Amino acid sequence: MKFYVEILGTLPEMAVAEVNALAELGKGTVLDKDYLLVSGEIENMKIFERLGMAHEFGILLFSSENPDEIIDYVKSFPWKNVINGTFAVRRERMKNCTHEIEGLDKLIGGIIHSQGLKVNLSRPDVVVRVYCGENLWLGIRIREFKGKEFENRKADRRPFSRPIALPPRIARAMVNLTRATRELLDPFMGTGGMLIEAGLMGLRVYGLDIREDMVEGAKLNLEYYGVKDYTVKVGDATRIKEAFPGKTFEAIATDPPYGSSTTLPMKRDELYRRALESMYEVLDGYLAIAFPADFDAVSVAENIGFKVIEEFYQRVHSSLERYFYVMRI
Ligand SMILES: C[S@@+](CC[C@H](N)C(=O)[O-])C[C@H]1O[C@@H](n2cnc3c(N)ncnc32)[C@H](O)[C@@H]1O
Repeated sequence: MKFYVEILGTLPEMAVAEVNALAELGKGTVLDKDYLLVSGEIENMKIFERLGMAHEFGILLFSSENPDEIIDYVKSFPWKNVINGTFAVRRERMKNCTHEIEGLDKLIGGIIHSQGLKVNLSRPDVVVRVYCGENLWLGIRIREFKGKEFENRKADRRPFSRPIALPPRIARAMVNLTRATRELLDPFMGTGGMLIEAGLMGLRVYGLDIREDMVEGAKLNLEYYGVKDYTVKVGDATRIKEAFPGKTFEAIATDPPYGSSTTLPMKRDELYRRALESMYEVLDGYLAIAFPADFDAVSVAENIGFKVIEEFYQRVHSSLERYFYVMRI
């Protein structure tokens, strides 16, 4: 089946990589990208329910650079087979749109309506999507990700809150970049943001933090969001084996402290190197990790034995630039 995902514009390369990682899990592949629209083929589209850095995903019906071809397709398509109830056509003009699409949604709506289907603009059962970029794209929305869903899990909305947590959409994308299907470890879990996202995806989650208050707080947060399948402990990310003797992990996603913490038992770069060594010992798959831009993560990680697969740059503010890395053993 063909799919489309409309990604967020904030970290587009990372968002495409997230779609790629999930497509891999759903036995599919990304085939095309037109500004913020990513498309491809997949066997199991349900996997995209896990997406973090996306506005929506759906079934891709047709694409063309010629508006007349879109109209011909709409005329010949058996809409009654896919629309159960009412519908609305919604169009999206992306920044790179090169076509005149004024009125295209109404025209398409009129054709579908003429097949005997009822329009409901405010609360349709099915949304037919038209995107304009370099090409025109026609699809049926399966799921929209409203900002509100993620905002409810932002750092300041958690029962135990510290201003150290990544935005939930980014935490979720990091979990997805690990391609985890069963379990996930965060050895610098803090308030548990990464574990909340992974737990809500149905993964069994494991966490460590060197501070007891963080561990108690992370438990509170996990319970609050309904995550039950977790093990969190006080422990040192540079000695993971000691905290989980004999255990290996399918995936690790983590966001180590950026250096100002007073709890660091060693210098920042040494902490990073030793934590990477410790993760390498227990990992059996992918690692997604964030580091400040002034840390030479690639050479340190490759010296340990990791293969660095992808990296994504983000300027958070004037004094924080970071990279997100995807690595594997
Ligand atoms: C940037 S925060 C992680 C934020 C987290 N993603 C969240 O959602 O809150 C880094 C965490 O690492 C913890 N930490 C610092 N040194 C550590 C170590 N050696 N082992 C384990 N945790 C450590 C800190 O206590 C802090 O909670």
